[in-house]
Amino acid sequence: MTADIEIRNVNKHFGAMSVLEDLSLSIKAREFIVFLGPSGCGKSTLLRMIAGLETVDSGEIAINRERIDHLPPGKRGIAMVFQSYALYPHMTVRDNMAFGLENIGMSREVIDARINEAARILEMPHLLERKPGQLSGGQRQRVAIGRAIVKEPKAFLFDEPLSNLDAALRTRTRLELAQLHQRLQSTMIFVTHDQVEAMTLADRIVVMNNRRIEQIGSPMEIYERPATKFVAGFVGAPAMNFIDATLDRSSGNATARFSDGISVRTAISSDLLADDKYSFGIRSEDVRIVPPGQGNADGVVDVLERLGERTLIYIRLGDGQQIVGSDVGNSRVAVGHKVGLAFDGQKSHLFSAAGRAWHAREA
Ligand SMILES: Nc1ncnc2c1ncn2[C@@H]1O[C@H](COP(=O)(O)OP(=O)(O)O)[C@@H](O)[C@H]1O
Ligand SMILES: [Mg+2]
Repeated sequence: MTADIEIRNVNKHFGAMSVLEDLSLSIKAREFIVFLGPSGCGKSTLLRMIAGLETVDSGEIAINRERIDHLPPGKRGIAMVFQSYALYPHMTVRDNMAFGLENIGMSREVIDARINEAARILEMPHLLERKPGQLSGGQRQRVAIGRAIVKEPKAFLFDEPLSNLDAALRTRTRLELAQLHQRLQSTMIFVTHDQVEAMTLADRIVVMNNRRIEQIGSPMEIYERPATKFVAGFVGAPAMNFIDATLDRSSGNATARFSDGISVRTAISSDLLADDKYSFGIRSEDVRIVPPGQGNADGVVDVLERLGERTLIYIRLGDGQQIVGSDVGNSRVAVGHKVGLAFDGQKSHLFSAAGRAWHAREA
């Protein structure tokens, strides 16, 4: 079972506060969609409106081209998995999974068949007779997912389901969710504020901020061609470097000049750019560490972060700005060293004050 989901011009207020403004979104059948954005931007509210746990002020929500925004949650054919697993502690795993189905009068045979199939998919047949208290956090999360699977929903909605798990388990459960999606081929919507979860799981990411959708795109589209400065700063760790720049547009490709006499030739055509003031953006992996005097700028090393396969180097420029660059794993650079920075203008971005973005990759 699967479904496409259409959200058209949806608005939502809580009291006088507007939470979502004229939001539209088309989700294709079998897609893994991630709503990504900072805390409080309206992700859970949007998910709960799809599930029927919140009303819609205005606008429409349709599943497989049928309007469902007036239907109660149980009639929408959707299953939601929460961050808190909400299992009944006195019931076995099997009974927890059966509970919702018994309530709608399904036969014992069908219920057992569905539970056994879900347990097989989630590799937990041996846990069915246990109670939640006898399970680890990760196993409880799997039961919560199993309870959704047995409903055979048209779509699965997940609200930050991994946040309560420790780092190792979070990574493993993330992988299991990706495999579950491949097996079930169901539409899945997953809410998170964690850009790594979004990048690793999504077919398409919906980046939300401040009541609106900032961008919808595949993980690499979002990463390589962020539509706004907000998206560029929110997706990717460490965050993209932003430097206030004045453009020299006298030749074919624009050259960005920074406050202390640094200049970088971008691969962005001057013809596309109307102003002189932009925010120049570049990711840490596109700022290489070179000997002093051999790059676009020199600076002094503030901090090192060793990640194993590479080292992040935080460098203070002459005007006090900090830039993060990237060096090899066993970098010999040390705090206090003077180093050169080589900016790769072919991978640079420009952001206008009005929020438009240009990318060297597309130029
Ligand atoms: N039931 C509610 N009553 C009043 N305000 C709410 C309610 N639910 C959420 N909000 C507010 O709506 C905004 C969006 O919340 P939410 O959708 O939970 O954000 P997110 O999931 O992105 O962190 C927040 O400012 C939050 O405080
Ligand atoms: Mg939330």
